Amino acid sequence: MKTDFLVIGSGIAGLTYVIKVAEKFPNKSIVVVTKGDEQDSNTNLAQGGVAIVQNKCDSFEKHVADTLKAGDGLCNEEVVRMVISEGPKCLKEMIDWGVKFDLNKSGKFDLGKEGGHSENRVVHHKDYTGAEIARALVSRLKQLKNVTYLKHHFVIDLISDHHLKKSIPESETTCYGAYLLNKQTQETFTVLSKLTLLATGGAGQVYGHTTNPKVTTGDGLAMAYRIKARVKEIEFIQFHPTALYHPEETPAFLISEAVRGFGAKLVLKNGNKFMHHYDTREELASRDIVARAIDTELKKRGEEFVYLDCTNLNNEKFTAHFPKIKEKCKNIGLDIHNDFIPVLPASHYICGGISVNMHGQTSIRNLFASGECSHTGLHGANRLASNSLLEAFVYAGRCADKSAELIHKISFKNEIPNWNSEGTTTTEELVLISHNLQELQKIMRNFVGIVRSDERLKRALSRLELLYKETETLYQKSTISPQLCELRNMITVAYLIVTHSQNRKENKGGYYNLNLV
Ligand code: SIN
Repeated sequence: MKTDFLVIGSGIAGLTYVIKVAEKFPNKSIVVVTKGDEQDSNTNLAQGGVAIVQNKCDSFEKHVADTLKAGDGLCNEEVVRMVISEGPKCLKEMIDWGVKFDLNKSGKFDLGKEGGHSENRVVHHKDYTGAEIARALVSRLKQLKNVTYLKHHFVIDLISDHHLKKSIPESETTCYGAYLLNKQTQETFTVLSKLTLLATGGAGQVYGHTTNPKVTTGDGLAMAYRIKARVKEIEFIQFHPTALYHPEETPAFLISEAVRGFGAKLVLKNGNKFMHHYDTREELASRDIVARAIDTELKKRGEEFVYLDCTNLNNEKFTAHFPKIKEKCKNIGLDIHNDFIPVLPASHYICGGISVNMHGQTSIRNLFASGECSHTGLHGANRLASNSLLEAFVYAGRCADKSAELIHKISFKNEIPNWNSEGTTTTEELVLISHNLQELQKIMRNFVGIVRSDERLKRALSRLELLYKETETLYQKSTISPQLCELRNMITVAYLIVTHSQNRKENKGGYYNLNLV
């Protein structure tokens, strides 16, 4: 298969780019690949909304200051200013594309508030903003004639010069497309592309306990790393403070931070509040601070969860803003107006990723990255809540603009060999994969979580080395399968998180090592 543009991933970053390039170039071909179905993305689960300055009391300066403060000195200020100032334009564009945001009684945007924000500035669609954005994007995409949507296709690897057995200086490495596996027919095939965008989202499944869906196995990050793309600040894993405590549920159901913005309080079993001991902003301190505070309280008491107290909140308004959360709680027997909600932190977002410039270009020629898999410099050491949908939308547009400049100068690399599966046989032993996955997730939860230490990281690395060796051996001799590829990708991402953690010599934002206190 040959295509002008290859897009890997179908969340907000991927689909925004697809729509933009498809509309700019009606005569060029675009292939978008997703390993699941339309709704299988983190975007689809995003509850809170999009942080965009709207209110007269608010300003770009205040949003910039909040983002820099949350990022704890590691944001790229130029990027922060650019993304935030493009917010209102993006909002208009999303609305023109059919996204519906909630309005208040005076017809203005109903602006929510989340941790780390000094003003109400989160535009939202009830408590399922991401699903509403995804709905509008997919419906627009369906009107485009030059897009081929490959669902249930797994991307095995990006193609670059090393597939031609050519040694080339790192700065000249180029991406020529990808090898794909059709999950339904088990066939592998080659897609040659002129430009490729990675929009594969996060890697929450590396931790097992996560608010992210099953598909978040860090495939894009691992593939990019394998062709030697630069990866940055991947040690900064954001843990969402308030996932619903419901053992065995994957993904963990999120109790949006907007609920705390609405007035809910974190309490212990005895009903006592505790956030005032940790930060003057209490429940609305930035996420790293709230997650660490909960973790400290849990460890101190040997308990598994704390509670969110919504009992004093206005029933009617709560129901209008948070219908999904209310329904979910009801389904597990909780009346949120009378009962406390049990919550605990869960892995939620990777602040670092594939390093990109202001146009979304990676260090590999003709390869772009956008959304959670990328590192733009916006988030620094801790992402400010609801900044990521905005970042994905802004950068998808910038990637599309840059792509428009480049596309005419690129031709296909026709001499790429097909996927080589010589010497491999089907493995009947899925237990080898599932066991190693559980082991990986346990290592990451216990040794590379909210609080780390030199010893925990060292142990994590030595255990990962064994998992890596076993999985590589299996990979070399087995017929390709999505489960095996995902495990391999997750081990790579885990390795990157651990080694980047070991290289960090100062606690910052979401990175906290006991030996550096
Ligand atoms: C939330 O609704 O709490 C999540 C929003 C985000 O992660 O930005």
